[in-house]
Parts: sequence; structure tokens; C-alpha cells
Amino acid sequence: MSHTENKRKILVTSALPYANGPIHLGHMVEYIQTDIWARFQRLRGHTCIYVCADDAHGTPIMLRAQLEGIDPQELIDRMKAEHERDFADFHVAFDNFHSTHSEENRFFAEQIYLAAKAKGNIEVRTIKQAYDPEANMFLPDRFVKGECPKCGTADQYGDNCEACGATYSTTELKNPYSVVSGATPIEKDSEHYFFKVSDYADFLKEWVNSGAVQKEIANKMNEWLEGGLNDWDISRDAPYWGFKIPGTKDKYFYVWLDAPIGYIASFKNYCERTGVDFDAYWKDDSETELYHFIGKDIAYFHTLFWPAVLKAADFRLPTGVFCHGFLNVNGQKMSKSRGTFIQARAYLDHLPAEPLRYYYAAKLSNGVDDIDLNLEDFQQRINSDLVGKVVNIASRCAGFISKKFDGRLCDALPDEALYQQFIDSGESIADCYENRRYSKAMRDIMALADLANQYVDEKQPWVLIKDADRQQEVQTICTQGLNMFRALIAYLKPVVPELAEQSEAFLNAGELNWSSVATPLLDTEINRFKPLMTRIEKDRVDTMLEANKALLAEAAALNDRTDNNNETGDLEIDKDPISPVIEYDDFAKIDLRVVKIIKAEHVKGADKLLQLTLALDDNGDVQRNVFAGIKSAYEPADLEGKLTVMVANLAPRKMRFGVSEGMVLAAGPGGKELYILQPDDGAKPGMRVK
Ligand code: MSP
Ligand code: ZN
Repeated sequence: MSHTENKRKILVTSALPYANGPIHLGHMVEYIQTDIWARFQRLRGHTCIYVCADDAHGTPIMLRAQLEGIDPQELIDRMKAEHERDFADFHVAFDNFHSTHSEENRFFAEQIYLAAKAKGNIEVRTIKQAYDPEANMFLPDRFVKGECPKCGTADQYGDNCEACGATYSTTELKNPYSVVSGATPIEKDSEHYFFKVSDYADFLKEWVNSGAVQKEIANKMNEWLEGGLNDWDISRDAPYWGFKIPGTKDKYFYVWLDAPIGYIASFKNYCERTGVDFDAYWKDDSETELYHFIGKDIAYFHTLFWPAVLKAADFRLPTGVFCHGFLNVNGQKMSKSRGTFIQARAYLDHLPAEPLRYYYAAKLSNGVDDIDLNLEDFQQRINSDLVGKVVNIASRCAGFISKKFDGRLCDALPDEALYQQFIDSGESIADCYENRRYSKAMRDIMALADLANQYVDEKQPWVLIKDADRQQEVQTICTQGLNMFRALIAYLKPVVPELAEQSEAFLNAGELNWSSVATPLLDTEINRFKPLMTRIEKDRVDTMLEANKALLAEAAALNDRTDNNNETGDLEIDKDPISPVIEYDDFAKIDLRVVKIIKAEHVKGADKLLQLTLALDDNGDVQRNVFAGIKSAYEPADLEGKLTVMVANLAPRKMRFGVSEGMVLAAGPGGKELYILQPDDGAKPGMRVK
């Protein structure tokens, strides 16, 4: 990987986010990691094209659309717009962001499948699978629950028991039920299409040593390879949201077949827009490099199936697959109940993007270890590094130059040897970026920032400026300071592009790139300094966390159980089993009241909520404001005047749109199927329900 002399042509990808849930700060680790790398390559003068797409197929997306009572197309369009906005606001600069539900992707999925078939790599076999006789659909493993065959704990998935840890197969579950309809699944035969990965075992054994994967991943791959490769089931039965397999009546490609092909499709879409040569990147590997950035949970798909599929269809192979670890928040797995499952939007509504980019950079290595977002440390790190060290140098020097020297820098550096250190560090910092050792790069840059601050501390321009004979010296000191600042910004530019842009405007000498540092900025006029970044205060972080809780509560209020899913992941659609027994006293604590809905309104900016004004007495003197997740099922006008039941003694909860003072009771799975509870004729507002 040392083609640094000549101009490289690089294509990079990040994994395609699922189109059925919002982007969260865990995802952002990957998109920020990739974006930093792509920006770095461009600053070095290379061509680096960065493509991605939404992963828009699969059962969870189909079911979520059903729950919301909309077409899957509508759901994925909405999600794509949300995702793109989140990424843009985090300054992730894709050259193209496409969708796997696209004509390009259909074309390549079919082409690749047919090529594998022509090589004899596809086999059709009949398998037995769980089938939901009510929903009329085959059930993926994660959609069947039941009692553990060993210990009897209820509501366990068909692979292992959370209570006793036993592993078993779906067919062994006692009293199994479908999480889609609640019906008891039956077993049904179905023809499935398999890709014979084992045909590529020898090839993979070689590829694993090609240097394309990290050591940790190579070790894992060797384990998998030694354990023997199972054929890969690439088909799903109708009803399924995806592409139909050519030559079949009702078989669809499994989402994980066409998902990575989405990399190709997005790039193709880009080529059509820009005229870039498609084959040079995907057919021929002699002139170009291809890298996939992924999380450790999806290594199997990218380092076993994907190279085999590419090989089968005569596409080029990735130059590298770069795997990263998972994000923890405050030392623990991100969690909805702790409120640390932080959505990108909640963060962006309250905090600027670049501090998080810097913090992730300061934490990321080229290994697969998990990284921790400690919110207190985050705040301190930004305040001490970016604000206290980097931006501080500019603010200490700029004022003198503007006020005393008409904004003019002098024509030579007073301490060239010191500046030379900044130039000399450029190559080793570049090396760190190249090898994804961002935390080392940030440490080295901050060490330079310390040198720059020490210099200004020692020279004390604020003292010299009072001495009429030493004015000239102040100009040279500040010129030195601003040049060191400029070098730091050039090196930080992949991480904090907005800060870099504002600094470029301030320095008034065009765009910085890596080689700009070699030539210091002398004898030119700079612009007036405006604060480039402000400290992060704790209350901003706290407000962000509160707002995030409100977002999570809003999703939960809708019984939004399909937002984090993956057919093999922790899908949480359950059939609302009866909850654990409680004592009468517990029940008696809940003050349920009949109320009259006297006003119902849409809430600006909320997709799921209606704002209800509820009367707790006959003449409307006692009122409550409640946000209820029933917008998908009711028109406000149809609610006004109705009686319903509310929890009247629930602690008020601050939501994004205001404070909610209670909850109304409604039944149903969600979407169009939500029914508010109504008392019989004769009931009056304020009556207690018991
Ligand atoms: N749709 C698949 C990828 C298909 S690629 C052909 C998928 N989507 S995802 O939305 O679940 O995840 C997208 C990427 O974000 C994955 O690389 C995943 O590892 C990463 N992350 C998701 N949660 C994460 C953390 N908590 N921490 C770090 N990365 C995480 O998988
Ligand atoms: Zn068990």
C-alpha cells in the first residue's frame, strides 16, 4: 500500500444501513471512519470515490411497512431521505448514496446469480421450514418464539435460551408461536436455492492470506474454513420484499445476496452520472483499489460469501476489507432502556457534528476492538483539544495581526526550525491515516498543538505589544503561531472539514491540502478572526440525552418493534405475551380515569404523535395535555368529543414537542391497527376505572 508517489484510483464503501430504522451513533462510527479515510486520500491528491446505499430489502422492512399501513416503497423512500440528511449533517460526503431497491441492483443481482448458476454453483434443494398458517408466510428463525425445551422459560427465540443458555433448533421449541400473527407455526416443505460456497473453499483459503483482511479477521476466517463451509441459502419464499429470482415463479433473493451487490449498483449509478469507467473499478484490478469498511458483526458476509460471489461472477476482488469494533456508550452496550441508544438526529439537534467526528477519530485504531463514547470524556476532550489547544492558537495570534498590522503576516518565520517540525511530521501523520490509526494521528497532531501553544506562551506577545519598540516582534510571533495553526488544520482537515473550511476563509489563502504545509503563509493578508468552535457545556449533552429519550419513548409508544432488525439480529416483534403477575396493590397505584378528548391536533414535525387535550371533568376545568402515538390510526377530527381512558397519575414526561401529562389507552399492534378504549354510554369524564 505504498503507491503514495503516484495518483491512486480508489473506491471505498461503508456497509449499507438498513432502511427500516434511524441512524444512531453506533452506525456513525463506521461512516465517520470511512469518510475521514476518503477525505484524507483526496487531500493527498488521489482519486477516492465513496459510495453507499440504503439496504432496502427483507422481511423486517416488509413487516414494518405493514405495521405502518404503507407501501414498502414509501417506507424506504422516507428512510432514505432521513438517512441522507443525517449523513450530510455529520459531514459524511458520499459521492453517491443509492438504494438496493434500484434497477441497477436488480440488473447486477440477476447477472451475478446467472453467472454463478452457469458455473454450476447453484443447487436447488427442498427444505423444511416453519410456516405461519395465518399470515401465510414462511418464518425466518427470528420470527418464531416459544418455551425453552430445557428450562421452560417462555418467549425464547428458536436458536438459544436467554435464561439457561441452551442451544437448540426452532423445531425443538415447546408451544412455538409466530411473532407475526401469534399462530402456531407448522412445518412446510419449500424449494430453496443454495450458493455452494464450498466450491470456493480453496480460493478462500488463498484469499485469506492475500493481506486483504486484518489479522484478527484472518484468524476467524481460518476457523470458519477449517470448520467446513455450509452452502448458503440465497432464496426466500413469497411474500418477500426483494427481487424475484429469474426463472422462478415466486422465489426471491435473500436480502444478504443483493445487499453487497448494492455497492456495485451504487457505483454504476455514479458512473452513469459522471462518465467514470465502471469496468476499471469492478472488472479489472490492475489500476484501481477497492476497500470495504464494515463492522465486525458482518465480517462473515464480507470475507467469505462476498469474495466467493465476486469470484463466481468474474468481478474483481476487494483490495481490503476493513473491520471495526462496536460502539459502547459510557462503558456499556448501547441500550434503549438506559437511553444511550442515541439517534443521530437527537445528537444533531443539540450538538455540532465535528466534535463527535474528532472524538471518534481520537478513539479509532485499525483493530476490531470496541470503542467507548464516554459523554463526560467527550465533552472534556473537545474542550481541551479542539477548543483549548487548536482553535486557541489562532485566537491568541489573530487579534494582534488584525488590529496592529492591518491583517498582514510578515514575510519570514522567526523560528523556521520549529515550523520544520510541523512539516516533518506530515508523512508520519499521513501514514497513520492511511493505516487507519486515527487515534495515533490525533495524538501526534495534539503534540504539535502543544508545541505551538508553548511557543506563544514563552514569547508572550500580549506583553511585548505594550512595548513600542517591540511591535515588529509581535507580528513575527503571530505569523509563526498562525502558520503552526494552519499546519494543524491541514492535518485535521479529514476529521473536521467544516472547521477547516472556516479556517481557510479566515486565512484567506485558498484551500488547504496535505502539501500546503510545506509552504508557509507569508506576506499576505488574513481576514478578521471569528470564533471557530465553542466549548461543549454539560447541559447541552444532558438536553441531547433527554431529547433522545423522548425520541425513543415516541418510538416505543407506537409499539415500534421493528426498528432494530436484521433477520439474524435481535428482532423484537413479539406477540405481547401476558406480562408477569403483579399484586393488586401494584394495580391500585395506577389511577385510570375516563376522559373526554376536547381537542386533537397534528404535531408539527412528529410522524407518529397527535396532541390531545383531555378533560377530566364534565365542564373541562381540569385538563391534561397528552402526546399519543396514534396518528397512524386516527384523524384528529374523528377523535374530538370522544370519551376514552387515561393513566392520570403518570409522571409528566418531557418530549421533543412538549410535556406529556399522562397516557391514553389504546390496543393493537400499531399502524392503522390501533384502537383507543372507549367506555359504554353513561360514563362521565373523571370517573375512576377499577
Ligand atoms: N444492512 C447491513 C449491511 C449490508 S452491507 C452490504 C447492516 N446494516 S446495519 O444498519 O445494521 O449496520 C450498518 C453498519 O453499521 C454495519 O457495518 C454495522 O456493523 C455498523 N454498526 C451498527 N451498529 C453499530 C455499533 N453499535 N457500533 C459500531 N458499528 C455499528 O448490517
Ligand atoms: Zn432455557
